Amino acid sequence: MDRIVVLTGAGLSAESGLGTFRDAEGLWAQHRIEDVATPEGFARNPALVHEFYNARRAQAAAAQPNAAHRALARLAGHAPVTLITQNVDGLHEKAGAEAIHMHGALSRALCAACGHGWEAPATMAPDDPCPACAARATRPDVVWFGEMPYHMDLIADRLAECTVFAAIGTSGQVYPAAGFVQEAAARGAHTVELNLESTDVSGAFDAHHTGPASRIVPQWVDRLLAG
Ligand code: OAD
Repeated sequence: MDRIVVLTGAGLSAESGLGTFRDAEGLWAQHRIEDVATPEGFARNPALVHEFYNARRAQAAAAQPNAAHRALARLAGHAPVTLITQNVDGLHEKAGAEAIHMHGALSRALCAACGHGWEAPATMAPDDPCPACAARATRPDVVWFGEMPYHMDLIADRLAECTVFAAIGTSGQVYPAAGFVQEAAARGAHTVELNLESTDVSGAFDAHHTGPASRIVPQWVDRLLAG
């Protein structure tokens, strides 16, 4: 049986009403990465950064998984699948699947002083004390530019042993995730890109399915499960 690794990005949640990053009206057209997604931006203006993630947390809490999230949960229930997500929205879990959160989660808070993590309240503020050490260094537990994504050892192991690698709704512009296709291909995996359009890394994939995730992901899952 195939061992499948699926990498997901913001395009998977677009049809759940959550904005992507790099589209014309995407999050990075409305906010400067340097201001809201770097440790330096947080040090300069933690209130602004919390405001940004509080708004995203509220949107994610109100969002529902779409047919693509549900299809991936169905796949994970029937085959050896590792879901790796760059998304921080929690929609894989709402659809009933477990995912490796390489860029963290909006639902989690992190103490920058002691490293303790806990469930984020709906609204976070710079002077929230850490429940473990009481330091006022509370931040969203999301990975910012310049920081190391989570679970990279586990991800490297899963990429090394997979026979099918799929990237869904991700632009291939942010490393290390954008390099996973090469890692999987180097170990002999069949590689598939599912996206609304071609990306900067499309040339690295063996096969392509083009269209909205809510349509092409269930079709792809059905074909895999039919064997
Ligand atoms: P991007 O916004 O860079 O890319 C979204 C991708 O989804 C694009 O390739 C779109 O073509 C595709 N897409 C949009 N709507 C779609 C749909 N309905 N169905 C299928 N595909 C669709 O988002 P990511 O690649 O996830 O990191 O971005 C990667 C990382 O960059 C994010 O995790 C975030 C961001 O900066 C950090 O904040 C550290």
